[in-house]
Amino acid sequence: MKRKLVCAIIGMTMAASLLAGCGGSSDTAATDETAAEEEGAEEEAPSGDVITVGYAQVGHESDWRMANTQNYYDVFSAENGYDLQLIDCDNDNAAQIEAVRSFIQQELDYIVIAPIETAGWDTVLQEAEDAGIPVIIADREIDADNYDAWVGTNTVNEGITAGNWLGEYLDGADANILVIEGSVGASATLGRTEGFDSVLAEHPEWTKIDQQSGDFTQSGGQEVMESFIKSYEGQFNVVVCQNDNEAYGAMDAMDAAGITYGVDGDVIIISFDATHDGLQYTLDGKINCDVECNPIQAETVAEVIQLMAAGEEYPESTLVDDEAFVAPGIESAYATTMTQEILDGRAY
Ligand code: AHR
Repeated sequence: MKRKLVCAIIGMTMAASLLAGCGGSSDTAATDETAAEEEGAEEEAPSGDVITVGYAQVGHESDWRMANTQNYYDVFSAENGYDLQLIDCDNDNAAQIEAVRSFIQQELDYIVIAPIETAGWDTVLQEAEDAGIPVIIADREIDADNYDAWVGTNTVNEGITAGNWLGEYLDGADANILVIEGSVGASATLGRTEGFDSVLAEHPEWTKIDQQSGDFTQSGGQEVMESFIKSYEGQFNVVVCQNDNEAYGAMDAMDAAGITYGVDGDVIIISFDATHDGLQYTLDGKINCDVECNPIQAETVAEVIQLMAAGEEYPESTLVDDEAFVAPGIESAYATTMTQEILDGRAY
């Protein structure tokens, strides 16, 4: 990345004390302020002006995504001093790039992108830079580095956590694993696969039988699981679903085929996201382990934007906290055992 200094901050809450002394400054929004500071002029953070923000959202493919969208509407509200344009790009990469172009044409103050795919961003990001509009990449990652700040989760670590938990749970027993991956080309897919596979490589007693994309949707998860059952019935004992909605579809397919799963079943289910319903299934013992991907990121993005707007240093990279949860009866060094209290405290 360019246009700022390197600083990683862990956690949802960026305390002002942590921000001091790290981060970069927006040389687009803050150019005038910086010049004035150098001349010794009195500086005040901008206040009272509505900040226009464009959010190029992936789509509406999952419960996670819907929670993330609602979080942006809640935080980037008119009451909070924002004018938010959120475009649901329906998992269409070309449409997402056009959404960003429309934000540039409208000369919005800031652009936030949850990138559908990692590839293909250089040109439009250069256009944003040429137009002087700071860009924050949120949720997922991209191959390009010409943006201003990033906020999201560590999906490689999410995959490692899932693998470590499975190793602990199986304690040396064989695993014959089917993986329902997320959308092709998405960093959430690539990261979770990379992380899980790194643990798989340490377990010669594990075999990955097959992996196919369920596109992060319930229908996709169900279709892939139906096809897996046709090809591999009786040959697998672990299904890794790269998000909760895929897990719901996979459970429907296994129910229809009379295959049992969860803590009392023949098949171990690992899921990602830990949204409310995913955690309900975990509490019910149907999902063995659900690794969180926290959708509540808008507050952190807004904090970065406020720092940029004030011409202050801002963090280049902010990692949102995640944890993992396991069904009652499972004790784990890698995950928290689910309780009703945890579920009741879940806002999404
Ligand atoms: O990028 C985050 C992923 O995207 C979530 O795991 C998934 O549910 C969503 O579609």
